[in-house]
Amino acid sequence: MIMEFNRNEFVSAFTFALDFLEAGIRKNVTNHNKRVSLIALNIGEALGLDTEDMFDLYAYAMLHDNGITHQVYNALAENGQDQLERSVSHCIIGERNLAAFPFLRKREHIITYHHEAYNGSGYYGVSGDDIPLLSQIIALADTTEVLFRRYADKAEVIEDIRKQKGSTFSPLLSETFLEIAHNIAFWLSLDDMFVSGEVSKRAPVFAMTTELADLLPIAGIISGIIDAKSPFTGTHSRGLAQKAEIMADYYHFDEERKIKLLIAAHVHDTGKLIIPNSIIDKPGKLNPAEFEIMKTHTYYTRKVLEAVKGFEDITEWASNHHEKLNGCGYPLGFDKTKLDFESQLMTCLDIYQALTENRPYRTPLTHKEATDILQNLADKGEINGDIVRDITLHCAISS
Ligand SMILES: [Fe+2]
Ligand SMILES: [Fe+2]
Ligand SMILES: [Fe+2]
Ligand SMILES: [Fe+2]
Repeated sequence: MIMEFNRNEFVSAFTFALDFLEAGIRKNVTNHNKRVSLIALNIGEALGLDTEDMFDLYAYAMLHDNGITHQVYNALAENGQDQLERSVSHCIIGERNLAAFPFLRKREHIITYHHEAYNGSGYYGVSGDDIPLLSQIIALADTTEVLFRRYADKAEVIEDIRKQKGSTFSPLLSETFLEIAHNIAFWLSLDDMFVSGEVSKRAPVFAMTTELADLLPIAGIISGIIDAKSPFTGTHSRGLAQKAEIMADYYHFDEERKIKLLIAAHVHDTGKLIIPNSIIDKPGKLNPAEFEIMKTHTYYTRKVLEAVKGFEDITEWASNHHEKLNGCGYPLGFDKTKLDFESQLMTCLDIYQALTENRPYRTPLTHKEATDILQNLADKGEINGDIVRDITLHCAISS
């Protein structure tokens, strides 16, 4: 099925989800990714890049640190962004994650080399113009962004970059930046108050038509990032997608409905990126205050997905997986009048998937034990009994 797909909306939704990792640890978001992207766009424009290069520069810059995992955040976040990026692993993971991303031109190593220095003193020792231009621009924008938050006086940022001209950064890029830095509006646009609006205004817009199926690998990357947050949920989203596929085939969903359901399964717990690991990995029952925090995750999932046009069904099916037919679920308290069949199916499968996985406080339940619990919830009017019967008969544990 062909759909209209706005890449910019998708890039910004992905960045928004990545910000959750930071928000979960620091309780605020530094806007590092957006600010790096805006600085990079300024440099790219001054260099006269064409619109396709400018789009890719925007997208790579927005997602340049996608490989920073929750472990790195947990260990280093309080020391600031420069510490966060002091590991080559985020370059490797980040490059791998973006391999299936729909950039406009085929490019390699942009993320791998985004911390290389012009004089060859970076992680890989690549030097000069052997470093791809987009990587060089992102590296300069990245350093500028970190300095922007460190120094109260812009003159210190400018001086710091000037000192690195010809060593960390190429003479051309340094000069280009120093020209831009004369502009008062440039510095104002980097303010937290303006940066989101500015970056979306400055990025070239590239809508595209795409096969819905081509978005599945990207959904798989996102589920990998989500699942990596905890050893106990290491295969949760992928496992849910497998179960969703079994049931979609059983119900003879057409291709479009099936792929949307699989994408929804992959991204349903996006909001968990903001939930602290102390709650996700707690070896026991959550206390009421912790449970209140846990209940927020599907709201965050909704906020990410609803920003992408064409994802209306996916948003509902992914975000309603803790709503219940009798209205006792969360976060919206929807009841059966607001929950379509796919949402109800996702709720049942999410519970089934979670019960059949390892947890810090118990081993995986068997198919029989899990479906008995589902039946009990159906008897209480919380979930759809017909779907529970179908899962019981047709959804054996396969992961
Ligand atoms: Fe980085
Ligand atoms: Fe960065
Ligand atoms: Fe969930
Ligand atoms: Fe889940």
